[in-house]
Amino acid sequence: MDITARSLGETKQKIDLLVCALFEGEKSPSKVLETLDKKAFQIGKLAVQQGRFSGKESEQFASYDGNVQVAKEVLFLGLGDKGKWTAEKLRKRVAGVLAYAKSQNAKSLRILAETFAGGPMDTQDTTEIIPETLDRADYRFDKYLTKKKDEPKREVKTVELLYSKKVQPSAIQKSITRARAIAEALNFTRTLINEPANLMPPRELARHAREVARAGKFRCQVLGPSEIKKLKMGGIIAVAQGSHEPAQFIIMEYGRAYKKHGTVCLVGKGVTFDTGGISIKPSRDMEKMKYDMSGAATVIGILKAVSRLKLPIHLVGLAPCVENMPGGGAQRPGDIIKFYNGKSAEVINTDAEGRLILADALAYSEKFKPKVLIDLATLTGACAVTFADKAIGVMSTDPALVQKIRKAGETTGERCWELPLWDEYFEIIKGHHSDIMNAGSGYGGTITAAMFLKEFVPIKSWAHLDIAGTAWVDSDKSYNARGATGVGVRLLLELFRNWK
Ligand code: BES
Ligand code: MN
Ligand code: ZN
Repeated sequence: MDITARSLGETKQKIDLLVCALFEGEKSPSKVLETLDKKAFQIGKLAVQQGRFSGKESEQFASYDGNVQVAKEVLFLGLGDKGKWTAEKLRKRVAGVLAYAKSQNAKSLRILAETFAGGPMDTQDTTEIIPETLDRADYRFDKYLTKKKDEPKREVKTVELLYSKKVQPSAIQKSITRARAIAEALNFTRTLINEPANLMPPRELARHAREVARAGKFRCQVLGPSEIKKLKMGGIIAVAQGSHEPAQFIIMEYGRAYKKHGTVCLVGKGVTFDTGGISIKPSRDMEKMKYDMSGAATVIGILKAVSRLKLPIHLVGLAPCVENMPGGGAQRPGDIIKFYNGKSAEVINTDAEGRLILADALAYSEKFKPKVLIDLATLTGACAVTFADKAIGVMSTDPALVQKIRKAGETTGERCWELPLWDEYFEIIKGHHSDIMNAGSGYGGTITAAMFLKEFVPIKSWAHLDIAGTAWVDSDKSYNARGATGVGVRLLLELFRNWK
């Protein structure tokens, strides 16, 4: 897809589909449309006057009038109440426009972008949200289909975002470039996650991390089983020992020049497949556990975008990657293991493996003396039970950091909601034969998992993001095609946008 910004004057060519939005109660389409094409404007105005179209939310009106010069079809979209217009509604409408264009087999699209601005959203916002969402919504994981679902291919090849003269074209082009770099990193992350476990084992994930680092010109080091053993990372070793796939500990480091402003360290859970181990999972839905490396893939994707955008931040990404299998060498319930920081845990349930590998990675982050430490993990089914696919569970030792993360989430449409880390919760996982147990009573599962992680956090400012409910969708939903969502990529890039 080719996306370009155009100003009104330079659009004489007839394209397939022109899109103009109206808020509820507007008596006629925007003046921008009148300047572009008098006939198209008249059609819209008549439709409103005759009560055939009123700009209500999710209402649309299409016209194929041959007298319109600039497009074969004009689509008027209702956006509803201007006061209730939001960025998330805009994303859904943009995804809808792309789906509609494909259904009509339109190849070229022209969007009157300013008509989508209103309420809390200004024209500048549309210059990022529209291209980003087009790229997100265009994504499908269909590389293994020998015959694609939409064959013969329905593809939107060109999109022109039309702006009136009031807007600086160079500023728009910059926004588009930024938005598409983020979307590209997002879709890259989605593919890493969507790849099945047989084709994306820890070594493959590490290969992609190295590749991203090479292209982005930043450091990447991958520790294998012998180095992991030397560092006494007992959690990673224990989880990996039931699989033939060797563990990989990915260490990425971008922006050393910005070290003086403080380091941010990201940690992502990289379980390339989670059978549960000896505490084996039921077979129903087990195929979804190929997504259990979403946190790691998200960290890799964020570093990809950050290096591409050249953000002024010293960012370290750590991704412990393993496969959790019940092989002959597998750890057993009751095993006691010792982590990088010397603490011990009893493995009550081998399916609570995420916290075991994250424990070593969180403790290891100490080496980089980060100012802020954030981990992402598909850690607990309980988080999906609590929030469904509507929110990321946030647990943190730093209220100010929570506020920043929540604000970023409001902006990107990745809602975050805090759960408490009260000391009383520790009683549930306090060990008898070891310092801690990796599973408790089952109650408060999302929080007790975070309480376990907290034991390994070497600094004050830490936030844990449980993305178990949000990392993938089971069916196509607006801009998310069935499969991985890449949640967290846009969230943390927004957090780092004006990072101090
Ligand atoms: N990867 C799972 C969590 C998960 C389950 C994420 C379903 C998304 C959907 C994790 O490793 C796990 O199995 N957690 C257990 C912990 C329990 C054994 C204490 C869980 O949530 O049941
Ligand atoms: Mn598990
Ligand atoms: Zn898991």
